[in-house]
Amino acid sequence: MPWAIILTLSIHVLAAIFWTGTTFTLARTGGGLAGPLFRPQMGAAALAVLSGAYLWFGLHHEGAAGPAERVLEAAALSALLAAGLQAVIVGRALAALDKDPADDSPARARLASGHRLAALLLALTAIGMVTARYV
Ligand code: HEM
Repeated sequence: MPWAIILTLSIHVLAAIFWTGTTFTLARTGGGLAGPLFRPQMGAAALAVLSGAYLWFGLHHEGAAGPAERVLEAAALSALLAAGLQAVIVGRALAALDKDPADDSPARARLASGHRLAALLLALTAIGMVTARYV
């Protein structure tokens, strides 16, 4: 039994569920708990990306160039974009709120839009990841 793949896939899916689930929730609620969740989210994103890279090579997708690989690549790219945008937009908005908690409305609007954008990209990622093998 390929224990390393089973373990890595489990870590991958759990990290992705946490990252995507909290992002969807924060997108829907305007980013109320964005501060305490930011580091765990970025940690889960890093874990999802690293375990995904291990799966890519471990399942020998790098040697194949079929439609499934194209879909997985597009999905992974969408995840990387989500992580980058979330880190920059949400990270900066949180830093602005830390500096000046009194004047918080533009920063709060940026928090919400950062999560909405990331949620959209993560939805595309999830669809690509689970459908790639059937295309
Ligand atoms: C750069 C980031 C990522 C990379 C490189 C990556 C790569 C992969 C690879 C290679 C697989 C195995 C495909 C196979 O069974 O042959 C996989 C599975 C999976 N990934 Fe990702 N992934 C990434 C991010 C994500 C994210 C953010 C999510 C959720 C939003 C996600 C959800 C899943 C799911 C649910 C599976 C299991 C699919 C299945 O077995 O049907 N992945 N991923």
